[in-house]
Amino acid sequence: MDQPVAEIGVTESGFCIGAYRSASAPFWMSDRCDVYKGVGPNNQRVLIKRLNKEAAADAEVIAAFRAEADALKSVSSFPVASVPEYIDFIEDGGDVALIQELIDGKPLTTPHRGENFARLRPYEVRRFLDQMLQTLREVHRLGYVHNDIKPVNILCRPNDALRPYTLVDFQNTERRGAAGRYQESRAEAVGAGVAASNHPFVESSAAVAYRAPERDGGAHGYYCSDIYSLGVLAIQLLTGAELHELSWNEHGHITLPLYPFAKDPILERVLMTMTGHSPIQRYQDVDEVLAALVQHRSGEILDKPVEKPQTARTIIAAVALIIFLIAGFFAWKSAAAQYCRQSIDCQSR
Ligand SMILES: Nc1ncnc2c1ncn2[C@@H]1O[C@H](COP(=O)(O)OP(=O)(O)O)[C@@H](O)[C@H]1O
Ligand SMILES: [Mg+2]
Repeated sequence: MDQPVAEIGVTESGFCIGAYRSASAPFWMSDRCDVYKGVGPNNQRVLIKRLNKEAAADAEVIAAFRAEADALKSVSSFPVASVPEYIDFIEDGGDVALIQELIDGKPLTTPHRGENFARLRPYEVRRFLDQMLQTLREVHRLGYVHNDIKPVNILCRPNDALRPYTLVDFQNTERRGAAGRYQESRAEAVGAGVAASNHPFVESSAAVAYRAPERDGGAHGYYCSDIYSLGVLAIQLLTGAELHELSWNEHGHITLPLYPFAKDPILERVLMTMTGHSPIQRYQDVDEVLAALVQHRSGEILDKPVEKPQTARTIIAAVALIIFLIAGFFAWKSAAAQYCRQSIDCQSR
């Protein structure tokens, strides 16, 4: 079970691995890894993610850990991707560790941990989405599905205007390539396209709640599965809703709980499409989501009658009036000519 060490109460004296030294007791432990703050050459502050003794004795686990490091290395080479910088992967005697940039932020809080989500305004949620979507675009472009988008894996630095959110933890990332596109690999989907049901999230299994339904039973993820997880999280940020308050309606969309802020119906619509119960209902790639957000922002709202602008109506009325006046003028002119002709005829008789 993953948990921050503050909740476990573990302390440990420092250690060195390669050119890096731990500067704290582990602040996070899972069944596989211990995570430390550390320092490198030139006092560079780093994060050391080290396999525990049992995991470091298992060749399969080491191979998976190396794959995690490779994924981070590839993604972090794109400056637009907001992920920690990859620094090193070290196998030193029985020790195996991934060294990465230490992000000076806090994980997004979640209601189920007994805290309230810092509920964001719609434009702030758009900013969050924008940054995470740009990041996911690079992840997906490399053929990876992240597979573990949830609050503890997104670090937040609210005062950093350029990069307020950082996506971490590539442990569950899979290299899927073309098979990651749902439409192209529908046949192998397990549980995909299942009928929509009122299927409330279970509060105690938070990680499962962010996981797309088609991944039930340990099935592979798709690019649109990451889009789903990000959508659930964004809905929570927007509404402050706890996981158990979210449920699908009969159309396969999460119904948004009411909230008191000024609404952004376009954003809500995008979020509902991101979190469709069946992958077919969702955007298939990040570019589609970004396009929908930008397109809608410029005023195009699908399914709503397009209102004719006021100026167009005024111009149409003015043209109609001019035509009416011209027609009236000619009618009057021909009537007058007729009258004149008649009076000339009278006089000549
Ligand atoms: N580069 C980083 N800088 C700062 N904190 C990090 C960084 N990477 C991860 N963390 C924090 O440590 C926790 C555990 O790291 P993570 O890679 O998610 O381990 P695990 O694979 O065990 O979930 C994360 O949830 C996050 O809060
Ligand atoms: Mg994690």
